[in-house]
Amino acid sequence: MDKFIIDGGERLYGKLQAQSAKNTVLPLLAASVLTDEQVKIRGVPTICDVENMLRILTEVGCRIKRQKDCTVIDSSGAVSHEIPPRLTKELRSSVFMLGSVLTRFRRAKISYPGGCDIGLRPIDLHLSGLKRLGVEICEEGGYIECKADKLVGAEILLDFPSVGATENIILAAVKAEGITVVRNAAKEPEIVDLQNFLNAMGARVRGAGGGTVVIEGVKRLHGVDYTPIGDRIEAGTYLIAAASCGGEIEISGVPPENIAALLHKLRENGCKIHTKNDKIILRSDGKLKSVDLVETMPFPGFPTDLQAQYSALCCTCTGTTLVVENLFETRYKYAAELKRMGADVTVRGRTAVIRGVEKLHGARVTASDLRGGAALVVAALKAEGQSDIVDLSHIDRGYADFEYKLKKLGAKIRRVRI
Ligand code: EPZ
Repeated sequence: MDKFIIDGGERLYGKLQAQSAKNTVLPLLAASVLTDEQVKIRGVPTICDVENMLRILTEVGCRIKRQKDCTVIDSSGAVSHEIPPRLTKELRSSVFMLGSVLTRFRRAKISYPGGCDIGLRPIDLHLSGLKRLGVEICEEGGYIECKADKLVGAEILLDFPSVGATENIILAAVKAEGITVVRNAAKEPEIVDLQNFLNAMGARVRGAGGGTVVIEGVKRLHGVDYTPIGDRIEAGTYLIAAASCGGEIEISGVPPENIAALLHKLRENGCKIHTKNDKIILRSDGKLKSVDLVETMPFPGFPTDLQAQYSALCCTCTGTTLVVENLFETRYKYAAELKRMGADVTVRGRTAVIRGVEKLHGARVTASDLRGGAALVVAALKAEGQSDIVDLSHIDRGYADFEYKLKKLGAKIRRVRI
């Protein structure tokens, strides 16, 4: 197991390029089985979630070539409609494979992905949407078996604008007979990126980013060479770290409108933020005042994936912040670790009250999920003294070269094996 050793208190200065977005690369990889022709995706980050998705593609029979700046997927040899259970456990977003494997094979078998450290994460909206397209679903013994003699377009209304369900339905509808309309669809930029990717393959998808996505089924899809959007959550994590520690950083590769809700809060905290095309420049004196309330919402609201990191920043703001997590049931596991660093955080259900303290002190803390782990790094960078952050397996799922990028900004951080 690895740990980070961080000597806090350094201001952060410099420039970073965002990685390709984890939460767009994963559905794009799933979509690559929709054609027999070569699919090239550029800038695929070297993170565990991507490596696991590539393992799943290999297991269904795809050939993968990892080149310097791109990943090439050849699905002409794909033969299996079964997603290996051990990989589903590793990677919840393997559930996105359902839609594309069904489109390819008219059958799909996956073990129930189950919950994870941030909540139950049911997939009822995925399954009800697939049923509307004519998929027969049998859930037995922890497995979900799907089959569809043919996929037929339908009107689908999502009870909740689920990102995964929206993506799975699009992947199952792109070659269905007729037209599919998904109402109350997720509006995240990653959905727009999936639409652009599929249309570059010859699909007919429109409306992504709005509340209604319309998919006109086509007969076939061809290969593509595609560059995904930048990772807005990775970028937001570095912006929060610099806001909290003080300094000046420039992040490129993420359109500011993709994290407008965060930028709005950071400005309220007292940061100076300038934006130009896909560049975001943040300047902070590290002495921030609290905002009264932060509520996570589906896009374009405040992203749940930045809730933990932002809460870490709130710990040393002047004043009290009320944080409400509306998307996941247990996304505060990091709070107990922040308290070990001297934070004043009270959690009740989906709400956290964070009273700003003068300073945090270094401590040995344990990461329990991806974004909670990133929050502990944000806090340790700000804290006085040395912190050990153990179990980096979570952070490594979503942040490529995390310590190198932070070191480049002037942080005193190193990874050691324990
Ligand atoms: C995606 O997860 C992201 N993951 C998550 O990022 C992100 O937090 C989430 O969207 C919300 O933005 C990927 O894209 C790989 P949802 P997903 O379906 O699709 C409920 C990270 O840190 N729901 O939008 O699983 C669910 O319980 C990860 O990078 C149902 O009730 O999220 C939750 O309360 C974490 N039934 C809410 O919707 C369903 O069938 C949002 O879930 C599906 C979801």
